[in-house]
Amino acid sequence: MPDPACGYTMGKFSTVMARPPAYIPQPPDANPTKEAFMATAATLKPGVEVRAKKLLINNEWVDSVSGKTFPTINPTTGEEICQVAEADAADVDKAVRAARAAFETGAWRKMSGSQRGRMMYKLADLLEKHADELARLEALDNGKPYFIASVADLPLTIACYRYYAGWADKTQGKTIPVNGPYFSYTKHEPVGVCGQIIPWNFPLLMQSWKLGPALAAGCTVVLKPAEQTPLTALRVGELILEAGFPPGVVNILPGYGPTAGGAITRHMDVDKVAFTGSTEVGHLIMKAAAESNLKRVTLELGGKSPNIIFADADMDKAIEGSHQALFFNQGQACCAGSRLFVEEKCYDEVVEKSVARAKKRTVGDPFEKSTEQGPQVDNDQFKKIMGYIESGKQEKAKLMTGGNRVGDKGYFIEPTVFSDVQDNMKIAQEEIFGPVMTILKFKDLNEVIERGNKSIYGLAAGVWTKDITKAHAIANSLRAGTVWVNCFDVFDAGAPFGGFKQSGIGRELGEYGLANYTEVKTVTIQL
Ligand code: NAI
Ligand code: MG
Repeated sequence: MPDPACGYTMGKFSTVMARPPAYIPQPPDANPTKEAFMATAATLKPGVEVRAKKLLINNEWVDSVSGKTFPTINPTTGEEICQVAEADAADVDKAVRAARAAFETGAWRKMSGSQRGRMMYKLADLLEKHADELARLEALDNGKPYFIASVADLPLTIACYRYYAGWADKTQGKTIPVNGPYFSYTKHEPVGVCGQIIPWNFPLLMQSWKLGPALAAGCTVVLKPAEQTPLTALRVGELILEAGFPPGVVNILPGYGPTAGGAITRHMDVDKVAFTGSTEVGHLIMKAAAESNLKRVTLELGGKSPNIIFADADMDKAIEGSHQALFFNQGQACCAGSRLFVEEKCYDEVVEKSVARAKKRTVGDPFEKSTEQGPQVDNDQFKKIMGYIESGKQEKAKLMTGGNRVGDKGYFIEPTVFSDVQDNMKIAQEEIFGPVMTILKFKDLNEVIERGNKSIYGLAAGVWTKDITKAHAIANSLRAGTVWVNCFDVFDAGAPFGGFKQSGIGRELGEYGLANYTEVKTVTIQL
């Protein structure tokens, strides 16, 4: 039966997620069950050969100037997958020069919009052709389940490139009815050379959110993938070459944040920097932009998103939806529904059922059939999350389940639930970015709005209720860039995403996302 909330058939994925069909921009019949999908998988091992390990500058694969490399680690085992060339300031400088040349000579910018769009469609087609390989590589380098990479990350990534390919010949200005004998119009011109710094939680998807609008607008790019997960970004680099993009349009530089990332943000010839990651680094990026050339800055940062269950909600759906809202992607999502507010009247029921659901969540090898949750991305994140669990215990939140490491290899953490959480506890205020659910009790609508807004963040929010008045009150009153009603984590390339307050500046996706990659030029002509 079609689910009225998302327009897709619910239940098929029930062993994995309650609502994943909404993630997947395909007709319902195209969505395989997890069993059917796994049955057709060629092998349930990574089964991929890593070829692209260097820097991509000016359409050439090169070693870094320093000759240095760094290891990328498989979080399932803690072992090295391979060494990757490590970019630093000298490499950033080379890449910016290539991107500047590509921008100035106009190989990209002056190409017609429709031609640019066709090349982007070609890239999307190549991603689709190699989707299985890319999903495997993503699961290997990041630790997310191979199935999830296949049915969520890849389709969303491909859809994003296609969406922005469609915009390439539609970035048009306006004619303005100015006073006097003048004709005045605006043009939307590309902002120039863009530095793009992305995180490790959705490597392919974040690359598409950055490259899609930049390329559609006619910008050229120097992109730094996260040091934890450089492999799929580099594989996409190979496909960019295969699609025929001119030299210098897309440059990809794996490396560390303070070195390669810092060099991008301080560079005097980078016109704009787009960043997704921690709020802490967001501050550094604005500062670097201010101290260098006032490059434009867009930021997509952390969150502590309230997710609110009212007693009148469809309880099973609300509980499963809230489970996924927190635990999806090992809890490593900026928009995770990480403050679960539950109305007093249904509090005991929700706690009991959420704990039972968390206990059922299967943790293991991303390539195992039954796995819902893989390892955390690296040892730093693992330690940080374990520290928050400790702090929750010390502040006397009630640990209902989990709290421990799983196994002795890799970075696995038990699905963990704290109840009786108070607003002022560290686990209710700071971004944990792991599989740790915190449940808070509330009495009424106004109270939950006030408490929901008591955060430095404002990225997303969720509400589960059958009462349309409550749903609207929440949607209108929460200071958050996205509000999901009776659903969560529903993404579409056309729907803008970004944060209020310290969750960021600007929006990604949709037409709003495109606007950040253009400058408006006003042309006035005497008649
Ligand atoms: P991070 O913000 O340090 O890293 C994100 C990206 O920024 C990476 O590519 C990194 O190399 C780069 N970077 C780091 N320092 C930089 C600098 N000084 N200049 C320029 N680029 C720099 O995040 P990290 O350390 O991986 O994770 C820490 C916390 O950040 C997580 O626990 C989570 O709370 C949050 N986070 C939020 C994400 C989101 O989607 N909004 C994604 C990743 C992390
Ligand atoms: Mg960091």
